[in-house]
Amino acid sequence: MDLQARLAALLSEYQEKIAQARTEQELRKVFADYGGPQGAIRVQQKEAIKSAPNAEKKAIGQLSNQVVQSVEKLFEERLRALADEARRRDLERVVDVTLPGRARPLGHLHPVTLARRDIVEIFGQLGFTVAEGPQVETDFHNFEALAMPKDHPARDMQDTFYVAGASDVVLRTHTSPVQIRTMLSQPPPVRIIAPGAVYRKDDDPTHSPMFNQFEGLCVDEGITFGDLKGVLLHFTQRFFGADMGVRLRPSFFPFTEPSAEIDISCVFCRGQGCRTCKQSGWIEVGGAGMIDPEVFAHVEYDAERYTGFAFGMGIDRMAMLRYHIDDVSLMFEGDVRFARQFR
Ligand code: PHE
Repeated sequence: MDLQARLAALLSEYQEKIAQARTEQELRKVFADYGGPQGAIRVQQKEAIKSAPNAEKKAIGQLSNQVVQSVEKLFEERLRALADEARRRDLERVVDVTLPGRARPLGHLHPVTLARRDIVEIFGQLGFTVAEGPQVETDFHNFEALAMPKDHPARDMQDTFYVAGASDVVLRTHTSPVQIRTMLSQPPPVRIIAPGAVYRKDDDPTHSPMFNQFEGLCVDEGITFGDLKGVLLHFTQRFFGADMGVRLRPSFFPFTEPSAEIDISCVFCRGQGCRTCKQSGWIEVGGAGMIDPEVFAHVEYDAERYTGFAFGMGIDRMAMLRYHIDDVSLMFEGDVRFARQFR
């Protein structure tokens, strides 16, 4: 076969494949296979020019150029035809632009978030500002400065998550280290509320290894245990209702003296006595007390001049009590149908 015949054969093969290409991608592949720099037609041409006697090179070159032009033209025509076809099909589609849009499913705030926002707002109105601290805490802030000595049972590996490879770094077991951080960073007076996640090696139907607390701290001249009780009563009545009461039971925390457990009226029977409160009419929600002078010494506050109170309660627990949720696991499942039930 001479050059012209071979080119003509390749060209008609090319034409056929171009016509069969259904997508731009297919089309581009055919073009590359024949008309591209490594394509069959181009390779054929190069060889022909190389092997031709000098006298014929010019004529063959011209012929080649014509072929290249028609190869490109065929490609471009088909490309346009495909685009026109796509556009035509697009226009044929009937779209009712007056149809209402499809609503996207909405999320909902988690009951813990709802509770935390209310807590922050209620204390905010009493002049408490929000303070925060890290969840990965030093032994000093979480224990030492809170007068929990090295042999304190709460520091046990059984109760506390220690960070691997560091004997003095823990996941904070309470929000009380924020007391220390706050007092180290500013002089009195102090009035803060510190909500946040805390961690303990507890995992059973009523305990989660991660939960949320909020810490309150108030330090000034002349702060008394009566102020503590007044603030707690105000909060409880705002959060749960005006018929609620607060009871402070003597207890012990290393960083407060005196210390108390905080009880509130049972939210299920409103103090009448029921199964949940074991007929007592009260349920325990946290701990509190007057700041121990030893803590003031750690943060260099003048214990002769200043007094203060602190308290710590569970946010998850507050939410569960307020919304009568009886299973902690519901709080962690992330089911929006659960969250949606709460205002
Ligand atoms: N941090 C204590 C706990 O988690 C609670 C507490 C806070 C007690 C502040 C007294 C003062 O159990």
